Amino acid sequence: MTRDYSEAGDHLISTRPVLVSRYRWFTRANHWIIAATTILLMLSGLAFFHPALFGLTALFGGGQMARWLHPFLGLVLALGYLLIFIQLVARNLPRRDDVVWVKHFRDVMDQNEEKLPTLGKYNAGQKFVFWAMAGLILLLLGSGIAIWQEYFPDLVTIPDRRIAVLVHAAAAVLMGLVFILHVYAAIWTRGTLRAMTRGSVTGGWAWRHHRKWLREVAGRNRGKPAK
Ligand code: HEM
Repeated sequence: MTRDYSEAGDHLISTRPVLVSRYRWFTRANHWIIAATTILLMLSGLAFFHPALFGLTALFGGGQMARWLHPFLGLVLALGYLLIFIQLVARNLPRRDDVVWVKHFRDVMDQNEEKLPTLGKYNAGQKFVFWAMAGLILLLLGSGIAIWQEYFPDLVTIPDRRIAVLVHAAAAVLMGLVFILHVYAAIWTRGTLRAMTRGSVTGGWAWRHHRKWLREVAGRNRGKPAK
């Protein structure tokens, strides 16, 4: 083997990577409450969706218990999402960079980051998930209250209740699809999960995927020693 490029003393030095804080504990706790309630809502909802899936109610202590619990889980999800919505809405507003990012979707899939625009805290895909979840949770909440007969028996007419059942089921199916997209993207983009588990990402991850955000965070701390 020829040694044209390096001198004898050149070698790799491994050091701990720079970490960038992305989510505080409260946001992470809220996010995982939202994730858990969504999974429980899907399992109990599927049980009401088709008789073949009724067996899933066993996870909740039977049919009556599942039926009683389901709307309350929905309220927990709506409240948790409202908090995350208020906190993150400003960073999820559409920007010109998002259009460029979407036009280069092929490069996103091929992981050609150098051809993509530098981005703030979120990319257009993440923003889509944010707004889709917000709209679908609102639909599920409205239609869910309309069919919550235990507490709101006379809120809507019977024909309107039939429409609400349909809207509720359709929104739940769409939410399942967006959920799969979100989890898949979080796993596929290596190094992302730790943002929601440990609260931080590596500097390399931030440079690669959200460079404007990294520059802003680094600029804010300029002159201060790294913690
Ligand atoms: C097991 C299921 C889930 C996993 C593994 C997961 C994973 C993650 C990860 C890793 C992030 C950080 C992404 C980043 O900052 O770049 C994130 C952010 C987020 N997640 Fe989840 N998540 C799950 C379920 C959910 C559910 C059910 C919802 C909503 C109902 C949700 C809503 C969000 C929102 C709104 C953000 C902030 C990103 C944005 O505003 O665009 N997640 N999730």
